Amino acid sequence: MNVGGQVVSINAMSNNFSGVPARANITNLCSKCHSEVAGMYEKSIHWKELEKGVTIAATCTDCHGAHDVLSPKNPESPANPEKVSMLCAKCHENQTKMQAWYYGIKTDRFDTYKNSYHYKAYMSSGKVLATCSDCHENHDTRPASDPKSAINPVNLPTTCGKTGCHPGASNAVFYGGKVHEGQSVNLLFIDVKKLINYFYIVMILFELTLTFGLIFMGISSQYELRRRH
Ligand code: HEC
Ligand code: HEC
Ligand code: HEC
Ligand code: HEC
Repeated sequence: MNVGGQVVSINAMSNNFSGVPARANITNLCSKCHSEVAGMYEKSIHWKELEKGVTIAATCTDCHGAHDVLSPKNPESPANPEKVSMLCAKCHENQTKMQAWYYGIKTDRFDTYKNSYHYKAYMSSGKVLATCSDCHENHDTRPASDPKSAINPVNLPTTCGKTGCHPGASNAVFYGGKVHEGQSVNLLFIDVKKLINYFYIVMILFELTLTFGLIFMGISSQYELRRRH
């Protein structure tokens, strides 16, 4: 192998080389140097699911890259505030990814966020007011039902009341409720809204077949009658 003009034996890597780390081991790798962040991340639902074997749950490299780690301040970083919503959407707007294993998780998080004031204001001003990770934490992301979650109703006044956001937000449930309005309705793993759409498509096809069928039968029976006379 040729590294920077020097010929290096391929065996040079074999002593400590462990190959591509498994997704569940990436945290260990990064926590060697980023133990504080890794400690926060290890409280998150993403880590808990990953630990359980749900390999699609987000790990460090999904949000920061592997060999191409950039500072989140760099506009090219997937964790840059302007890119975060796209980053989360890769999984949270992906029906197949989210529904394959978890029944009932909502997959309209980006769509509904796009309808919110925060996103619209960003589109018109180019300034990120609040993106996914501002409300869901960068690393300690938890489901709403968790009392320690930033989006647990009890904690919403603090989350929405962050400096620079809505200080003294006592009516935070209102802000919270507006974020993902119009969420899809899930019955087990079936998206009810889609089901209704499919139902109508089938109904319309059925009605069209019936209508044309009747017309055809009408015409052909008249033809029959005429032939008999
Ligand atoms: C690589 C895929 C992936 C990425 C990227 C990702 N997530 Fe997740 N997320 C998951 C999976 C899988 C779960 C587990 C769902 C569960 O158990 O509820 C989850 C769970 C969550 C939950 C809890 C949902 C619930 O109902 O329990 C929240 C909130 C969340 N993620 C927010 C985010 C945010 C915000 C981002 C971006 C900063 C993000 N996620 C990026 C895969 C991902
Ligand atoms: C779901 C996405 C997501 C995951 C998973 C994630 N991060 Fe982050 N990380 C972010 C976001 C978003 C920021 C903040 C960007 C900003 O400053 O605006 C951030 C910031 C950072 C920073 C900058 C300094 C700081 O303290 O905030 C470091 C270092 C970092 N992450 C390392 C890690 C490591 C190591 C892991 C795994 C143990 C990890 N991240 C997992 C999204 C993620
Ligand atoms: C050998 C130690 C080491 C390992 C292992 C390591 N990092 Fe870093 N990382 C650093 C140092 C040093 C910096 C620069 C110091 C700083 O800005 O905090 C840095 C910076 C970062 C930053 C930018 C922080 C900022 O505020 O701009 C991110 C994001 C990051 N690392 C993520 C990761 C991820 C993800 C992994 C695992 C795939 C990882 N690092 C593994 C040492 C390491
Ligand atoms: C202004 C704050 C805010 C922003 C921005 C935001 N969310 Fe949320 N999110 C919430 C609140 C509050 C809830 C709980 C109430 C609800 O479901 O509407 C929630 C619910 C969720 C859930 C379900 C969690 C659960 O346990 O049921 C997921 C997943 C999620 N958001 C992902 C995202 C993603 C991905 C983005 C960015 C595209 C995003 N959120 C942007 C505040 C926010």
